[in-house]
Amino acid sequence: MEHKPVLAKEVIEYMNIKPDGTYVDATYGLGGHSRMILERLGQEGMLVAFDVSPIAEQHLFDDDRFTFVKSNFRYLKNWLDFLGLIPVDGILADLGVSSPQLDIASQGFTYRTPAPLDLRMDKDLSVKAQDIIRKYSIDQLAEILSEYGELEPAKAIATAIVEARRKQPIVSSADLVAVTKRFARGNPNRFYSRLFQALRIAVNDELNALRDLLKQSEEVLSPGGRLLIITFHSLEDRIVKQFFANSEKLKELDESPIIPTREEIKNNRRARSAKLRIAEKIK
Ligand SMILES: C[S@@+](CC[C@H](N)C(=O)[O-])C[C@H]1O[C@@H](n2cnc3c(N)ncnc32)[C@H](O)[C@@H]1O
Repeated sequence: MEHKPVLAKEVIEYMNIKPDGTYVDATYGLGGHSRMILERLGQEGMLVAFDVSPIAEQHLFDDDRFTFVKSNFRYLKNWLDFLGLIPVDGILADLGVSSPQLDIASQGFTYRTPAPLDLRMDKDLSVKAQDIIRKYSIDQLAEILSEYGELEPAKAIATAIVEARRKQPIVSSADLVAVTKRFARGNPNRFYSRLFQALRIAVNDELNALRDLLKQSEEVLSPGGRLLIITFHSLEDRIVKQFFANSEKLKELDESPIIPTREEIKNNRRARSAKLRIAEKIK
C-alpha cells in the first residue's frame, strides 16, 4: 500500500532527534514518520508509538528500540509513566485518519463508497456514527453539524435527518448522503466532507483527545523537548495555536504554521490542508 508521510522532511528537521533520546509518535498509522525517527536513533534511543486503529497493528516494526501501544493518545501520560519513560525528548502527532482507513470501504470512513455509517477509529468504542444519527435529538445533531462541521443551516439539516429516520433507518453512508442531498449545493464534496468530519469528530471525541494530548505533552517533555502537531482542519489548528499561545511551559517556535510545498501537495493530495505547529518546552 502506498504511503507518504506528510511534511516528512520538516518533521525530521524540527524534531531535533538525539540518537539516545526517547520519542513518541502519538499517531503511528502506517509507521511512515516512525520509520524515519527510528532511522535516526542510535542503539540507546527509544520510540514509543500509539494508535487505536486495527490497521496500524498490522504494520509494526520488529525493533528492540520500538514499543507500540494500542491506545488512544489521550492516555499518553499514564502509559509513559507505566513504561518508565518520562521525560521524553519529542512528541509527534499527525492527526486524522490514514489513507487506508479512508480507502478501505469497510472501515466506513468515506462517503464516496457506500459503507456502514461507522466512523470509529477505535473499533472498541461502543458508539458508531449510525447510533448518533439514530438517537440524537435535532438540537444535539445541529450542534455537532455546526460546531464540528461548520455547516449551515445546521438545524434544517438536523431536522431533515430526524424526519428521514422516522420513515427509514439511516445506516449507511449512502443513506446519509441521500437524506442530506438537498443541502449539498455548490460544492457537494465540500459539504459531505464536512458532514462526515463532524460525525467523525463526535464519534471519536477527537477535539477533547487532542486537548488531553496537548496538556499531557507539556508535562512529559524534557526541557528543550519538542511537540510537533500536524492538523488538517481549522478546528484542530485553532486548538493547537491557542494552547501554545496560553501555555507557560511551551513556546511555539514560529506563530505561522509550516505548510507543505506545492511539490508535496502535487504528489500527495492528503497533504493539501496540512499545517505543522511546533513548540519547545521551556520549563
Ligand atoms: C494520519 S494517520 C498517521 C500516519 C502516520 N504519521 C504515518 O506516517 O504513517 C493518523 C493515525 O492516527 C490514529 N489516531 C487518530 N487519533 C488518535 C487518537 N486519539 N489516539 C490514537 N491514535 C489516533 C489514526 O488511527 C491513524 O492511524
